Parts: sequence; C-alpha cells; structure tokens
Amino acid sequence: MIHIKKIGVVGAGIMGSGIAQVASLGGFQVVMHDLDSTIVEKGFDSIKKSLSIMMKKGKIDPGQDRKILSNIAGTSHIEEVVEGVDLIIEAIPENKELKTALFHELDIKSPQHTILATNTSSISISAIAAATKRPSKCVGMHFANPVPVMPGVELIRGIDTDDDTVEVAKYVLKRMGKEFYVSLDFPGFLGNRLLMLFINEAFNILWQGIGNREDIDRNCRLAFRHPMGPLELADFIGLDTVLSISDYLFNEISEKYRPSPLLKQLVTAGHLGRKTGRGVYEYETTNTK
Ligand code: 3HC
Repeated sequence: MIHIKKIGVVGAGIMGSGIAQVASLGGFQVVMHDLDSTIVEKGFDSIKKSLSIMMKKGKIDPGQDRKILSNIAGTSHIEEVVEGVDLIIEAIPENKELKTALFHELDIKSPQHTILATNTSSISISAIAAATKRPSKCVGMHFANPVPVMPGVELIRGIDTDDDTVEVAKYVLKRMGKEFYVSLDFPGFLGNRLLMLFINEAFNILWQGIGNREDIDRNCRLAFRHPMGPLELADFIGLDTVLSISDYLFNEISEKYRPSPLLKQLVTAGHLGRKTGRGVYEYETTNTK
C-alpha cells in the first residue's frame, strides 16, 4: 500500500472545506484548491467556525485548532495541488462534464502513484475514471454534510478500481475518524437513491398544497425523530445539488426520480438554499457555495 502524506482537495465549498478539515485532523498535509481565491478564503472561514465549535465542545484539545489550520494550505493554482500529492479528493459541483474534465487534467498533471478520489453524490465512478489513464487508481469517497460531524462515508469501487486503492481509501477514512461502507458503482449508490426520493416528495407535497413547509418539516422532526425535515435538509445540501442529483437519477434509473416542478422553479430563480440566503426558507446570513 502506498504511503499517504499529502492530500489535495479540489473544491473549497461546504464539502471540500469539510474534507480538508478532517484530512488535516487525520494528520495529513493538505492543500485545498478552488478556482477563485475568495472561495478558498470562505472555505477557511468555514473550517475556523467548525474548529471553534469543536474547541468549545472539547472535541479537540486547546491549540489543536491552530495545528489543524496550519496543516492546510489554500491555493487557486492546480499546480500546487498536484505537486508531490499522494491522494486527491475532488469536491466540485455535481456535474459529470466538469468532473470528467477535472479528472482528465489531474491525471495528466499528477504523479503516477497518485490516487484520484471523487466525492460525487451519484455519478458513475467508472465514467469519471474513464477520463483518466489510471482507472484502477480512481475511487469514490462520498462524505456527508457537515463533514466534520457526520461519521459515515460511502466508499465506491469503480469497475476497474484495484484492491490497493480501496485499502488506501479505507486507511485514510479511518485516520479521518470516519466509518465507511462499500457500495457498487450504481447511480445514487447506497444513500442518495433513498434520500432524493424522500426530499423530492416533500417538494411535491408542498407544491400540491397538502401542508405548509414548516409542518412538513416538523412532522419529520417530531414524528420520525429526523434531526432536520426534508425541506430544511434540501436547503442545507443546496437545492442546485439536490436538483443535479435528482436529474441524474431520473435519467439513469427511472421516472420516479423526476424532479418536482417546485424544486426546479426555486433553482431557476437562483434560490439555492442556505448558501444564497434563500431556498425553501429565508436565511439572514449567506454561506459558502
Ligand atoms: N463542525 C463541528 N461540529 C459541529 C458543526 C460543525 N460545522 N455543526 C454542528 N456541530 C456539532 C455540534 O457541536 C453538536 O455537537 P454535540 O452533539 O456534541 O453537542 C452537534 O454537531 C449537533 O449540532 P447542533 O446542536 O449545533 O445543531 P443541531 O442539533 O441542529 O445539528 C446538524 C446540526 C448536525 C446539521 C443536524 O441538524 C443534522 O444532523 N442534520 C442532518 C444532516 C444530514 O442529513 N446530512 C447529510 C446530508 S446528505 C449529504 O450530505 C450527501 C449529499 O450527497 C447530498
């Protein structure tokens, strides 16, 4: 098994910054990248906020927050990510063309031994890996939001992923303090195939006027003990992400994933959830992308 020292994270949004944080917590040297340096800065803000919560709760020792931060370098130059990197975890928007283009570039620019992981929520790992000349070294590592809090990660084997790559991914996840489960490479994997049906149906219930947004969410919190209702959760994930995943599952699996017209309308209007200050609900402050 290759020795992992440096991890690159491409995408410094909610997921990427969370992954960078847990990678640093796991003792790895991390470089967090985004195309725009202001997004990288927002990524650091979100890491600082999370570390301060963890400090207050006694989940990390005094001083550990500074160490975790200092192990993460930020950049908008991909060359600084690929240099001497052992594992790259991609966390860019849920779009097949963007992800395959990125994997193609990373394959050309990274050292031969580098493992390329994608945090895709639904897209075929094998299809993304096919954009590279190293499909055996490509793997899916699907984290849940908020990454520093949620313990579970889906580990997805593409059709060509080799055993060594899977073992490295397991080792890295253990160091990050995560639990994992292996899924076959099928659209939506183990989790989002279920979650997207649930969230989408909540939008349909709201659209049909069967109940108001608060009550749909309250029912799930109070009657099912979910930590958040499905509409709140959609705002939390990002309505654009929910729509991308649903569209993909609709095209790849079946009609039952057809995105709700209300979800589509909100995305078209630019109401993407917490990150834009408005989704199903309104928010006072905006978040990172
Ligand atoms: N960093 C570190 N710790 C944090 C944190 C952060 N950013 N945010 C919250 N926490 C900690 C809190 O300190 C608290 O810890 P404690 O249990 O030891 O007291 C715990 O998390 C709960 O937080 P809060 O009490 O402040 O707030 P809530 O109880 O409202 O929990 C939540 C917030 C953890 C987000 C909770 O509402 C939740 O679990 N929601 C569901 C999230 C979910 O389903 N995520 C998966 C989405 S699907 C996905 O990501 C996949 C994608 O492909 C779509």
